[in-house]
This record gives sequence, C-alpha cells and structure tokens, in this order.
Amino acid sequence: MLYGLSMSHSKRVRKKVCKLASITIRNLSFTYDGVAIPALKTINFSAAPGQIILISGNNGSGKSTLLACLAGIIPELTSGKLEGQIFFGGDDPDTKFREDATTLGVVLQDSDVYLLEEVYEELAFPLQNSGTNGPDLDKRIQEVASSLGLSRLLQRKIRSLSGGERQKVAIGAALICDAPILLLDEPVEQLDPLSAYNLFHTLRELAKNGKIILMCMHNPITAAPWADRILCFRNGELFEENLKFPEVTPAQFNHSKAWTFPTLLNQENSTLTEKVEHAVLEVRNLTYRYDKQSGIENITLKVKPQEILALTGPNGSGKSTLVKHFVGLLRPQAGKVFVDGVDTEKVPTWELAKQVGILFQNPDDQIFNATVLEEIAWSLVARGVPKREALTEARKLAADFELKSMLDKHPHDLNRSLRQLVALISVLITKPKMLILDEPTKMMDFELLKKVMTCLKNYRDQGGTILIVTHDMMLAKNYSDRVAFLDSGRLAGIGVYI
Ligand SMILES: Nc1ncnc2c1ncn2[C@@H]1O[C@H](COP(=O)(O)OP(=O)(O)OP(=O)(O)O)[C@@H](O)[C@H]1O
Ligand SMILES: [Mg+2]
Repeated sequence: MLYGLSMSHSKRVRKKVCKLASITIRNLSFTYDGVAIPALKTINFSAAPGQIILISGNNGSGKSTLLACLAGIIPELTSGKLEGQIFFGGDDPDTKFREDATTLGVVLQDSDVYLLEEVYEELAFPLQNSGTNGPDLDKRIQEVASSLGLSRLLQRKIRSLSGGERQKVAIGAALICDAPILLLDEPVEQLDPLSAYNLFHTLRELAKNGKIILMCMHNPITAAPWADRILCFRNGELFEENLKFPEVTPAQFNHSKAWTFPTLLNQENSTLTEKVEHAVLEVRNLTYRYDKQSGIENITLKVKPQEILALTGPNGSGKSTLVKHFVGLLRPQAGKVFVDGVDTEKVPTWELAKQVGILFQNPDDQIFNATVLEEIAWSLVARGVPKREALTEARKLAADFELKSMLDKHPHDLNRSLRQLVALISVLITKPKMLILDEPTKMMDFELLKKVMTCLKNYRDQGGTILIVTHDMMLAKNYSDRVAFLDSGRLAGIGVYI
C-alpha cells in the first residue's frame, strides 16, 4: 500500500487506542485575556476512535482555539478565562494523557517552527524522546517519510525546503509517534492537491486503525469526502453540519492528477506562446539549480500586459524559485529575465522592486513594523512619499479591507490570515505595474479570498499585471486569464482553463 503506515506499529497503537482514546468536551468556554468576547462559547462534543472530524469555519471563528485547548497550549502557554472540561478516554479529566508526548500528535497552524536543522533529526526527536532508538527509529522515519513523499529530503536542511515540503515535515513529526489522537490545524494549507489527497488517504487508513483525527480547515471542501463528521464554528459556537459535497467524492479524487497537471487546460502550443508580443514579465531559457535534484530548468514563459497568470504545480516544482528572479532575489545561472522588456541582469534588486511588487510565500518574512498602520504605509514612505500622506493612504486601504480597528496593533498579534492580508495590502498600496504573489490566499477563508481576488481583478482591469502562485485550482479557474504548470522544475504546460 503506497500511503499506508506499518501494521506492526498500528497494532501496538490499537491496544493503546482501545484503552485510552476518546475525547469528550463538556461546556468548554474560553476568553483570551484583554478580549471582551469569548473565543469559544459552551462547546460540547465527543469523538470516538476511528473518526475523522473536520472542524470548519471562517477565519477567527474559534477552530484553532479549540485545538489549542485540546493540545494543552491553552491554558499552559496562552492565558485567559477557561471553563468546562476536556476528557480523554473516560470520565475523569486525564491530565496525564497529555503529559505523555506519544498520546497526541499535533500540527499547529503556525507550524513553520522547527527544533532542529535537518529533516531526519526533526522526525527522530519525538521518537527518541519516547524511547525509540536504533533500527526501529530509522525504520519508522523511513516509513513516515515515504508516506509523505519526504524520502529524498531526509538529509536536507529544513530551511532550504519549499513551503509545502516544510509543511510535510511538520505533519511527519506529528505522525511519527503513532499517537492515538491527531490534532491537525490547516494541515494542507501549503500542499499541492495531489499531496493533500495523499495525506487524506493516509489519515483515512490511520482512522481505520482506531485513531481519532481532528482537522481544522477554513476550506473543508477537499477534505469533506474523507470525514465522518463535519463540525462548523460560527463566532465561537460549534454546530454539527450535514454538509454534502456531491461534486467531490474520493472516487473523483482518484483522478486527482487532473487537478494538478495540465489535463484541464486548453493548451497553447509553443508557436502561440511565441506570439505574445509584448511581455511585461518574461523568462527565456531560465535555469537555476540548487543542486542536481532541485531547481528550475530551461523555462521560457511570458506574462502579458493586463493578465492574471496563475502559476501552479506540485510542491517543490520550482514556483517560488522562478518568481524570485523577477525581483533579483535569485539571478539566472543560465537564460534571461526581462521586466517590462528590460534585461534584469544588471538592474539592482532595489530598482526592480520599484516596478514589481512581490508578496513572499511566508508573509512573516516581510512584516517588520511595530504597528499595522506603519506596516501598510512603509513601502510608500520608502518610495519617498511624505509620511502623513502615506499614513492617510494606508488608513484608506485598511478601511476597504475592514482592518480599521487593527491599525494600532502589532502585526504579529493578528491571526495568520490577517497577517497575510496586511502583507498583501502593503504591497498593493504602491500600485506597482506588476504584482507577483506567492500563494497570497492560502490562509484565507472563502469570503476574504473573494474580496482579495475581486480587488486584484480591479487592479488588473486598471492596467496591472499579476503573476499569482497558487495551489487553489478553483482560484486558478475562476480568477486567472491563463494557467501555467511547473513540474519537476520544468514548464509542463500553459493555457486557458477549459
Ligand atoms: N535554498 C535552497 N537550497 C537547496 N534547495 C532548495 C532551496 N530552496 C529551494 N530548494 C529546492 O528547490 C525545489 C524548488 O523549490 P521551490 O521553493 O521553488 O518550490 P515550490 O514550487 O515553490 O514549492 P511549494 O509549492 O512547496 O512552495 C524544491 O525541491 C526545494 O527543496
Ligand atoms: Mg513555493
């Protein structure tokens, strides 16, 4: 079985599961310190072994707070008023259950934090802590790595991995101890559709062996076919939902290559691509290799004026590597990069950044001011706009995105979707001629996504050009003019969604 985990391990766990795993939550409420409105309001539910429970709901509705309570982060690390009880495996509140690191496998929403440098070490650490060593340890690491497609990356430094590859490491570290309860907060946020499918498949197998899997997802559609139950948060309250998603079934996902590769496209042939006369962004025979296995190879691509080009492709296929060339963060090893017809070879990064607004894959990489207002205004100030004028413009744009009440907060005190939004607005405010956005909506619920994409469409209609990296095929279909697919560092196809 390609994605199943070993039976020897699961057998051992099954025993433990029968004895321990079940979750009962009674009248759980939580209010963060300094906030008037409770984040969780009298939550009641129980979960039995063998269930995958999907917890959906918009950004800020309470999903991550519930998971933090279950993981013990609330109240141990985050303070506030906590009421009600959580039981694991019986009627007595079992605090010891949580103290044993092998009983809960957790992926937090801010999962991009690692203890060690290399992938192998990161996966080994929880096992060593729980007393597994020697051949058993290695066997288990190889097993989990193979189920997540991480085998060839085990000796790599985590910081050199792509965003999706890093998220797989976080998931691997949660799965590695075969814990009977898995708490996963937005586990597929940065995974390509096929990797997400493979993960859901693996989780289904684990549930069959008795695990309880709680998964928070602001967009539940892709995971829904694998779930036994869907719970939905609205403003801190939890409702059982009987959502049906007839258009997406596991059987359909068996053909999920279709979601990743260019079969959905009415493809251009190379002559047509050559006929794009004036390209605003262009790479010609671009090659950049980190080593023999990874990088991009001989890519030729043109982005037309006033188009939204979606760039998609599996994790590690080279999307971020490609787009970094347009602002000089990487320089071609071979081939050429043109911005508005100008060969960028000798153009410094700061000069390119004036024309091309870029949003990095991790918004935290570009947030550094002390308040949301200053963060949004700073790129105007950096371009010589008087501070007062820049702040006025920042207030206006923030109001359009309902961020008015957040302006004095520290950006890192906002939740992730809002941090992503702030980083995006701070790029939009300079009205660059070209925008490069690396997975800008991955943290956003559907409402916010719609708002952001409508704004980007208006920007396009007023003359702007956008290259948007995304794993969201619905976004590519509904909002882009053309779609380009990268696969293993090469351009695998470009065309219009059928
Ligand atoms: N600094 C680096 N050193 C070595 N290899 C790297 C480095 N940065 C990226 N890579 C590798 O290059 C390949 C392409 O990475 P890139 O970040 O461009 O992928 P991506 O398509 O953006 O993936 P994702 O969808 O996960 O964001 C990956 O296999 C990655 O591990
Ligand atoms: Mg990337």
